[in-house]
Amino acid sequence: MAKDAAISGFHKLMPEERLKLITEILNLSSDDVDALYKHGALSIEVADKLIENVIGNIEVPLGIATNFLINGKDYFIPMAIEEASVVAACSKAAKIARPSGGFTAYSTDPVMIGQIQVMDLPSPEESSIRILSQKQKLIALANEKSKTLREKNSGAIDIETRILHSRKKMLIVHLLVNVQDAMGANIVNTMCEFIAPEIERITGGRVNLRILSNLSIYRRAYATAKFRKDLVGGEAAVNSIMEAYEFAEADIFRAATHNKGVMNGIDAVLLATFNDWRAVEAGAHAFVSMGGYHSMTKYSVDNSGDIIGSIELPLAVGIVGGAASVSKKAMACRKILGVTSASELSSIIAAVGLAQNFSAIKALASEGIQKGHMKLHSRNIAISAGATPDEVGKLSTMLVESGDISPTNAKNLLEKLRKK
Ligand code: MEV
Repeated sequence: MAKDAAISGFHKLMPEERLKLITEILNLSSDDVDALYKHGALSIEVADKLIENVIGNIEVPLGIATNFLINGKDYFIPMAIEEASVVAACSKAAKIARPSGGFTAYSTDPVMIGQIQVMDLPSPEESSIRILSQKQKLIALANEKSKTLREKNSGAIDIETRILHSRKKMLIVHLLVNVQDAMGANIVNTMCEFIAPEIERITGGRVNLRILSNLSIYRRAYATAKFRKDLVGGEAAVNSIMEAYEFAEADIFRAATHNKGVMNGIDAVLLATFNDWRAVEAGAHAFVSMGGYHSMTKYSVDNSGDIIGSIELPLAVGIVGGAASVSKKAMACRKILGVTSASELSSIIAAVGLAQNFSAIKALASEGIQKGHMKLHSRNIAISAGATPDEVGKLSTMLVESGDISPTNAKNLLEKLRKK
C-alpha cells in the first residue's frame, strides 16, 4: 500500500483497526505488531537491567499522528503520552500545513559538547592557550575511545576553551564530538574522563567535572511551515494567533506554558522512540533562555496573509545505542517513522514541536482548549468510573451532552446506562 500519511477518519477507527492499517501501509512484521500491541514488550528482566530496584513497568498510551509531510516525505508519527488532545492537535496542524507543502526541516551535524572543568590555575588565560596549542593531540587522544566513530570519520573534532569568573576563576574545556546516530552521552563522557589527566598535565591544574552539556548548541534541528489564512479561519484568526505568539514573546509566564505545549509534542516522540526527553527538555529551555527566556517557535505573516511558523532547538536524539536499542516498542516506533539517521529523527521532532504549538495557540486564540480537551478527557473519566471498553464511548458521549464531565456524574450516568 502506498504511504500517504493523510488518512481521513483514522481517529474514528478502533485501535486494532488503526494498527492493521498502519501495519499494511508500512509493511510491519508480526514481531513489530506484537511489540506495539501486547503488554510486556519490555520484559521485566530487561527493565531490571535498565534501572535499579525495579518492581514493574509503567505503560502510557501510544498514538499515531497523521498528515505529516516533511521535506516531501510522508510520515506517521508515533507519540507516547498520557495527555488527551496532543496527538489530535499535531495531526490537525500537519493537515493545515500539508496543502502548502508540509514542513521543511533540517538538522545540523550531530555534534555534542563535553565539558571539562579545570581549577587551581595561576593563569587560566595561559592554560587556555596551552590547551588550544595541543588541540590535535587531545582530539586524537579522545578518539582512541571510539573505533566506530573514528571509522566513520567523526568522533572528537574540535576543542574550545572558556574562562568563567565565579568564586574562583576556572577554565572550561569543551570537547566537540560528532556522535553520528547516537544520542552520545556515553561516548562524550567517556572521552572527557579519558583526556582529563592529559589536560591536568598540560595545564598543571586540577580537573573537577567531566560531563557532557545538554545545551547542545551545535546539534540543532529546524522546521518551518506555512499555515494558510483560509485554512486557519481567515484574517481575524491569523491576527489572534499572532497576538497569542506575541504574548509568549513578551511574557515569561506565558512563554513557559507556550513552550510546555511545544514540548508536549516533542517529548511524546522522544518517549515513543525511547530517547532521553529530560536531556532535550533541558537543552531546549536553556537554548531559549540565551538572551532572555522566549518562545521556542516564531511566527510571521507573509504577503498573502498566511502564517509562516518556524522552530529551532538543540535536539540530541539517537537511533542507535543506549536505551533505544533495548525496547522492542521503541524499535517498532522507529520503523513506523522509517528514519535512517538521528538527524532525520531530530528534524521530524522539530516539525512535531512546531505543529503541536501551532494547534495549541490556534485553539487558545479561538474557542479555547477546554471544549475539545474535556471531550477527550470524558473518556478518561468514563474509564475511571468503571466503564467497560464497550461502555466508554457511550458514557463519554452522555457526559459531554450533560455538560458535567465529573467523576460523580460519570458514576450516576454509568448506573443509568446499565439499567437501560
Ligand atoms: C497543555 O498541556 C499545553 C498548553 O497549555 C500549551 C499552550 O498554552 O500553548 C495548551
